[in-house]
Amino acid sequence: MKTLIVYRSMLGSSKNYAIWMGKSLSAKIVKYSDVKNKELAEYDQIILVGGTYAGWMSLDGFIRRKWDYLKGKKLILADVGLAQKDSSDTQRSWGKMLPEFRKTAKMYKVPGKIGRLNEENVSEKNIKEIVDFARGAGKIVNGKRKKTVV
Ligand SMILES: Cc1cc2nc3c(=O)[nH]c(=O)nc-3n(C[C@H](O)[C@H](O)[C@H](O)COP(=O)(O)O)c2cc1C
Repeated sequence: MKTLIVYRSMLGSSKNYAIWMGKSLSAKIVKYSDVKNKELAEYDQIILVGGTYAGWMSLDGFIRRKWDYLKGKKLILADVGLAQKDSSDTQRSWGKMLPEFRKTAKMYKVPGKIGRLNEENVSEKNIKEIVDFARGAGKIVNGKRKKTVV
């Protein structure tokens, strides 16, 4: 599956996660503001990596603008931040995102940092589950759920 990683990062964590994912998946990474529509059309799977700030997922505007080019693809969101996935803060910011996107995308919450705050929790191991999913783990193949990709 041809994968593109699109990131938006103000404080650096999302960019680092995008770089780690790009290496693990041997996939191209691109800053959201540099993405061309034609480029999006070439990929089957798009991983969006960006921070949430004050209850706003920073790639929501990008997703809304580019929805015509994103719909129908395998979409993964790595929502980087300090809030926990099951917190009401995350449920609220996720709930404000484009409904069509929420229906089809797989969302992961990944630890971010503010300067030194939470720095110890920002590491490459946080992308393992995302990378496995992107590689196809969890897909049903011949009636069996694939755990790993061979
Ligand atoms: C002003 C501000 C507001 C923030 N609000 C949230 C928030 O609502 N939810 C959350 O999970 N993290 C929040 N954070 C934490 C950021 O998401 C975290 O710093 C993350 O690393 C940002 O991504 P980046 O490093 O790629 O810029 C906030 C950080 C700042 C500076």
